[in-house]
Amino acid sequence: MENNFAKKLIEWYKINQRDLPWRKTNDPYQIWVSEIILQQTRIDQGTPYYLNFTEKFPDVKKLAESTLNDLMKVCQGIGYYSRIVNMHKCAKIVVSEYNSNFPSKYDELINLPGIGDYTASAISSICSGESKMVVDGNVIRLFSRLYNLKYQQNSSMMKKTIKKIAEIEILKFKSGDFNQALMDYGSMICSPKKYKCDICIFSKSCEAFKLDIVDKLPVKKKNISISQRFFNYFIVLDKSSKVKIHKRKEKDIWNNLYEFELLETNNKISFKEAESYLKEKHERLSFKKKHQVSHKLTHQVLSIDFWIFEVDEVFKLGLDIPSLNNYPFPKPIFSIISKIQ
Ligand code: ADE
Repeated sequence: MENNFAKKLIEWYKINQRDLPWRKTNDPYQIWVSEIILQQTRIDQGTPYYLNFTEKFPDVKKLAESTLNDLMKVCQGIGYYSRIVNMHKCAKIVVSEYNSNFPSKYDELINLPGIGDYTASAISSICSGESKMVVDGNVIRLFSRLYNLKYQQNSSMMKKTIKKIAEIEILKFKSGDFNQALMDYGSMICSPKKYKCDICIFSKSCEAFKLDIVDKLPVKKKNISISQRFFNYFIVLDKSSKVKIHKRKEKDIWNNLYEFELLETNNKISFKEAESYLKEKHERLSFKKKHQVSHKLTHQVLSIDFWIFEVDEVFKLGLDIPSLNNYPFPKPIFSIISKIQ
């Protein structure tokens, strides 16, 4: 490791660190909320969720007492919803087993639902100064370039190697600052494409810079295939413009969020096909409108058609459109609901 790595890094961090709301606290509950949100969401997108979440659920007790539906509503649009279900489970355990005091020690955190090595390291280093290193995408990029590490970027070999390299450095300063300084440095200076080697304080000892291969590192996993799926949502309005919705229970995506009746097909379907599908269930119907959207997820692209029909019936469990605002929906469905209000 280059001489004085941690010292230089911390000096840089003191001047250049990002002003982020969760850096104003050492409360393990709030740090946990921020780390879960930031696991799979960028800072600019995650910050409003963090602020709203901690306002609605200021402590773990409030979170444990909420319903999963209320929680999902607060997190609507964030994506990767299984982490939110785990947060709810975790909050209940903290209330019952830790008397509502959110733990801050690695060995306790690691046994809670939804908390793995990364999150337990982040919380314990920030809140109780444990020397546990946090190796996220930013840190991997920085170290793979500094040391010309050719392991695949998310491999356990890569993470182990980085922890080994930095194990002495993390002992020298506050470990929470060290970890967050690495994240900021990786994000702000050693950026994926717009890396700023001209102002980097480590460029003299950076292997990738010397070899002019900064743009080649870290080594990415070979292209994971992206599948295309075709969803048809039927928004069926009854005589008083009420609709039926249900909670999605499929494990693939959007588990526990609400949706309209869904028909998934192998290809796009025609108006005739959509109409004949609905005619099996409703005698008299008239077509109103169709909306199409494309929605990208990590490994799939959804081509979604929303078919809006009116029927000559009264739904027993129908809801009027404005009241749909009280239910958590996936982002593309929610944006259609806003359009049809
Ligand atoms: N990403 C995950 N945790 C973070 C933190 N504490 N600061 C900045 N970025 C992060």
